[in-house]
Amino acid sequence: MRAVDIIIKKREKQELTKEEIQFFIKGYTAGDIPDYQASAWAMAVLLNGMTPRETTDLTLAMAHSGDMLDLSPVVPIAIDKHSTGGVGDKTSLVVAPIAAACGLPVGKMSGRGLGFSGGTLDKMESIPGYRCDLTTEEFLHQLDEIGIVLTGQTGDLAPADGKFYALRDVTGTVEAIPLIASSIMSKKLASGATAIVLDVKIGLGAFMQTQAEAHALASAMVKIAHLADRKAVALISDMNQPLGCAVGNALELKEAIATLQGEGPADFLTHCLDVVEQMLVLGEVAKTEAEARSLALDALSGGQAWERFLALVSSQGGDVAYVKDPSRLPTASLIETIPAPRSGYLSQINAKTVGVTAVFLGAGRATKEDAIDYAVGVEIHRRVGDYVEKGDPLFTIHANDRQKLEEARISLLGAHLWSDAPVDPLPLVYDIVR
Ligand code: URA
Repeated sequence: MRAVDIIIKKREKQELTKEEIQFFIKGYTAGDIPDYQASAWAMAVLLNGMTPRETTDLTLAMAHSGDMLDLSPVVPIAIDKHSTGGVGDKTSLVVAPIAAACGLPVGKMSGRGLGFSGGTLDKMESIPGYRCDLTTEEFLHQLDEIGIVLTGQTGDLAPADGKFYALRDVTGTVEAIPLIASSIMSKKLASGATAIVLDVKIGLGAFMQTQAEAHALASAMVKIAHLADRKAVALISDMNQPLGCAVGNALELKEAIATLQGEGPADFLTHCLDVVEQMLVLGEVAKTEAEARSLALDALSGGQAWERFLALVSSQGGDVAYVKDPSRLPTASLIETIPAPRSGYLSQINAKTVGVTAVFLGAGRATKEDAIDYAVGVEIHRRVGDYVEKGDPLFTIHANDRQKLEEARISLLGAHLWSDAPVDPLPLVYDIVR
């Protein structure tokens, strides 16, 4: 077999065999196939697509390029949840404890912030002492003992994807549905997930801008799961405006804590319930979504979800005193609430601008090596569709630098668009792909 023939075959819009895909991925991971051939192949895939069978073979080839975790000795169903990324998306911090409290163990490997999207690990590391570097043995032991883990990737999972993703990033080949779907799903399969709830974000602050794109990505991932003998369901949810109010690491952690204690923003709680009910049904803890929702609400109101969160923090070395009293978590030196400059209906709160502003304040990284400032970020006080009176609190900036605060004020005022006529609120979920 020769790499060039596989590139030509895809260029000619033909379907690749499993053996050809395996040869290509193995050769690329081992360094036998150079970057320039892998780039040409990625571009041919971007232009000509892949069938669900090809996409699944690519996913499995990348998954098998490193360790394959087997969680079956510890949990009967290995549930996972994955969001394609967004602004203010602290859903994992809430749904993992709820699911665990309902009797569905959740062992989740998460990522750090990427671009203007936040990352679960950075949020959890706002807690002094919290470790995101568990070994595979520690991961399995904790999942078995307390039924909940939120950590970084353990072991060497899907190294082919790591190498290929870095190449796609610099060759204009990230935006190919089969490549995105296989990249995400290869990591899920390698981490041992057997049932996966996917949260595909759509809108100004998301990878996918249109319903058609989001639907195609969601369907591709659900098909991969089924062809690989896993269960999956994908929500297509809104990311035009930030999710909840808080954007920034400790601020989001505080909002997640409030939500676990029944005091979070209503739209964020509803989104968490939408996600967790799919997890509980897929995990066979509930037969219907209605039953799952009722179990989740009971776990919240009865305090069991909060108790699981405390067990998680304590087991991973975090100081629970900080989550029991969130005022002790990192707090910015400059906190300023900006009033609405006019009266009217909010027609847009641009999630991307809010995310970029939070990164500019220090909540995210410009390069991989940058340290992040856990304390800084933004609180958005109103939602699209709200009528706001001039002078009402619109947003609050948490900064550690006066100049940055001033620049953030300008960019956040620009993120809010106004209408004199009533505006419909944005839906939370547009569709579910099963
Ligand atoms: N996230 C991933 O893990 N891979 C992609 O290709 C895109 C987003």
